[in-house]
Amino acid sequence: MDFLTLSDKYKTPLYVYDLDKVKNQFLNFKEAFSGRKSLICYALKANSNLSLINTLAKLDSGADCVSIGEVRRAILAGIKKYKIIFSGVGKSDEEITEALELDILFINVESEQELQRVESIAQGMGKTARISIRVNPNIDAKTHPYISTGLHENKFGVDTQTASRLYLYAKKSSFLDPIGIHFHLGSQLSDLEPISVAAQKIVEFARSLLALKIDLKFFDVGGGIGIVYEDEKTIKLYDYAQAILNALKGLDFTVICEPGRYIVGESGFLVTKVLYEKYTDKKRFIIIDGAMNDLIRPSLYGAIHKLSVYSKDKLDNTKQSIADVVGPICESGDYLAKDVLLPPLSPGDLIVFENAGAYGYSMASNYNTRRRPAEVGLENGKDRILKRREKFENMVADELRILKGDMNGFE
Ligand code: LLP
Repeated sequence: MDFLTLSDKYKTPLYVYDLDKVKNQFLNFKEAFSGRKSLICYALKANSNLSLINTLAKLDSGADCVSIGEVRRAILAGIKKYKIIFSGVGKSDEEITEALELDILFINVESEQELQRVESIAQGMGKTARISIRVNPNIDAKTHPYISTGLHENKFGVDTQTASRLYLYAKKSSFLDPIGIHFHLGSQLSDLEPISVAAQKIVEFARSLLALKIDLKFFDVGGGIGIVYEDEKTIKLYDYAQAILNALKGLDFTVICEPGRYIVGESGFLVTKVLYEKYTDKKRFIIIDGAMNDLIRPSLYGAIHKLSVYSKDKLDNTKQSIADVVGPICESGDYLAKDVLLPPLSPGDLIVFENAGAYGYSMASNYNTRRRPAEVGLENGKDRILKRREKFENMVADELRILKGDMNGFE
C-alpha cells in the first residue's frame, strides 16, 4: 500500500481501509455457514462508516446494532430493515419505539424489565414486537476482562432460568413474539472450546423451549471471533462454523452471526506522521500526530498494534533503538506503541499501525479538542475518501450557537 502518496493526498492522521479485503472477509464468513439458512449481521460497533457498511450491504449483509443511531446508520447505508437486529442492555423508550416503527427483524432483550417495556410500548402502538432473549451462558471466554461478556458477573443477558420464565411470558403476550435466542461470549476470542460448549448449552436450552411450544426461528451466536494482532492463536473460521453447525444438527433454525472485528479489523491502518523525536535520560520518544483519541486500544486494553515505518528518505536500519511512540495528548497513557525497535526517524516520516479497522475510528473521540481523522477506502486499486477529517467549526458549532444566545431545543 502506498501510504506515502496517500498521506500526501489526504494528510495525517488518516485511517485507510482495504475494502477488497473487507469484502473477502465477509464472503468467507458467509461461505463458512452456507450449509444452512444463515444471516451474517455485521456488528456496526466495530466500524460504522457508512460507505464501509454500504460495501457490506451490497453483499447482502445484515446488521447487529447496539443503539438506535446504529440502526439508522445501517438503514442509511442500505442494509435491509428485516436484516437488522438491535441489542444492548439499556435501550431507552424512544429507541424501542423507533425500532418497532422501523419494523426491524427483532429486538434482543437483555432483562425482565426491558421485556416489560418492550411489551407495553408495543401494546401502546398496537403492534406485536418480534424479540429474542440474550441468554448469559455463564462461560468464561478467556479474553480481556473488559471485553468478556458471557459470565454471570457481567451485565449482559439473563440466566437460563430467568430466560425460560421470560419466554413463557412472551409466548402468552399478544404484543410479544419470541422468535430468536441469542448469546455472545465476548470479543477477540482465541479459543474455540468455550464457544462450542456455550453453543451446545444454548442449543439444549433452545430444545427445552421448543418443547414448550415456543416457536424459535433464529439462533444468534453473537460475534467475537478474534484476529492476530501479535502472535496470539486464532480460531479457524471453518472450525468455528462447524462447531456451531454441529451443535445445531437436527434443528431447523436460521443461524445469525454478528462478527465485527473479523470482518474489518485486519483491513484497517492508522497512518500517522512523525512530528519530533526526543530523549530523556531514561527513554527515547517518537512523537507522532496520531494519539489515543484516534486509536484508544493500546491505552485502554494494553493492546498491541504492529507498526511499520515509511520514509521518503532511506531508513538506516543498522541504527535501531528502543522507543515509545506517543501522541500529543496531555496524558502519560497516551501512547500507541511501547518499547518498539525503530531506526532514526525524521519529522515527516510515517508510522503506520496495523489491524486498526475494528474499534479504531468507532472509538475515536475529540479529547483535547482534536479533530477525528479522515477515512479513506481502497477498492480495485483506487483510493477514495469515506469521511473527511472533522472540522473545528463543526466541533464547536452547537456550543457557539448557545454562546451567541440561541437556547432553543434540548434533544
Ligand atoms: N455482538 C455483540 C452482542 C457484541 O457485544 C459484540 C462486541 C459483537 C457482536 C461484535 O464482536 P466482535 O466480532 O467484533 O468481536 N472495543 C473492544 C471490543 C468490544 C466488543 C464489544 N462487543 C476492542 O477494541 O477490542
